[in-house]
Amino acid sequence: MSLETEAIKPHIGSIIRADRAALCEDDATAQACLDLLEQRGVLVFPGINMSDAQQLAFTDRLGDRVNYTSTASGSDADAQDVYTISLDPAVNKEPFYVLGTFFWHMDGVTSDIPPPRATILSGRRISARGGQTEFANTYAAYAGLPDWEKAEVADLRVIHSAYASTRLVMEEEGNDEFFSHARRYVKEHPLVWTHESGRKSLLLGSHADRVKDMPLAHGRSLLARLLEWTAQPDYYYRHEWQEGDLVIWDNCGTVHRVVPYDETSGRTMHRTTIAGTELVS
Ligand code: OGA
Ligand code: MN
Repeated sequence: MSLETEAIKPHIGSIIRADRAALCEDDATAQACLDLLEQRGVLVFPGINMSDAQQLAFTDRLGDRVNYTSTASGSDADAQDVYTISLDPAVNKEPFYVLGTFFWHMDGVTSDIPPPRATILSGRRISARGGQTEFANTYAAYAGLPDWEKAEVADLRVIHSAYASTRLVMEEEGNDEFFSHARRYVKEHPLVWTHESGRKSLLLGSHADRVKDMPLAHGRSLLARLLEWTAQPDYYYRHEWQEGDLVIWDNCGTVHRVVPYDETSGRTMHRTTIAGTELVS
């Protein structure tokens, strides 16, 4: 097993230089990546240039892939389960989901299945302007809270909804169908997620709409402040993409977002997803 790792910042991010074949084929290498992911939140494989087939093989080594039936257009392999992230209207007929990635979020928080354990993104075409992906470590953010604040948030519950994130990217007027769909995805979660490992993290993002049993303004202010706390430089990493980079993030222990880019940028990412194993609530 050959994993050469280098911490990016004390509280988030590691660069990994590894043999591509070992990542795709060797279980011990995959396990080492999973362990490191849990500790570091984000793993960066600079210029590893994985094909779709290799990315899928690596994904399968790490866990159960979440099935996306959307095949990547312009992909170089049998790309079932590879999701193309693009704002190009020729590629993506429903840009709303991609626009939603402009705001801090975790993937899959309002669905009935456990939130994905990890998301894997490979950079296929890079935007000249914008398009950097930002991450913040929600384990470190929780751990860094003063004791009085840990006590204050310990038992709070938060209502997450697809409606809350949808209203950030489109007007309600004229989009009834979209909003009635979005309104169906509502989930209550604890603000502090105690994982099976015993570690605790904050569960935050654009989908966090309100704090249960708290006046609306107080709850929303608290959620906004905790998100600002989480995104402070010590817990934060911004990835400046180069073509061929591959990045994995721990979706249960980080929030992420992308710096806005436009539909003419050509920015194209290929995404695979590893199923989660822990229901939060
Ligand atoms: C996602 C996502 C960010 C990016 O795929 O879930 O948030 O940088 N992507 O495209
Ligand atoms: Mn996302």
